[in-house]
Amino acid sequence: MAILKVARLGHPVLRQPARPVPLDAIRAPETQRLIDDMIETMREYDGAGLAANQVHVLQQVCVIEVLGNPRYPDAPHIPLTVVIDPVVTPLTDEMEEGWEGCLSVPDMRGMVPRLTAVRLECWDREARRVDVIAKDFFARVIQHEIDHLNGIVYLDRMRNLATLAHIAEWNKHWLGSREHAD
Ligand code: NI
Repeated sequence: MAILKVARLGHPVLRQPARPVPLDAIRAPETQRLIDDMIETMREYDGAGLAANQVHVLQQVCVIEVLGNPRYPDAPHIPLTVVIDPVVTPLTDEMEEGWEGCLSVPDMRGMVPRLTAVRLECWDREARRVDVIAKDFFARVIQHEIDHLNGIVYLDRMRNLATLAHIAEWNKHWLGSREHAD
């Protein structure tokens, strides 16, 4: 396993759409190694999720996990979830504002509106079908990561850039005001 270099805002790979992974390629050693490395990288940098674009790979793969994350001490726990070739369907029109950060936008936080409930259909790392309904924080993280696979970052979704904050100022002035994700 290896800790991968994370692309930062400005690298073109963050603005390119990722390609689907063919079903028969999911169990291939290269894909399995990518998934292992992405999990290790996400954990190393205390991300709540990581999309393959962020490690310079344009494949529709992302990993999500929130378990006692020091960057997000108050966030609800999400078990390790490997998402391949996702299709996300809105289950509501309701949007909620919440704080997000991103390993590709280091040391920043901003308020982002997200749908409060989505359906996620994808493959897992064993090429098994996944079909789940995600709400609130989990729904937020899914939308953030799937956006990455489409070349979108959370800044594009913000309604008001006045909430964009450096983490040091955010800790002083905003901490504790609503949930957050990345
Ligand atoms: Ni991100």
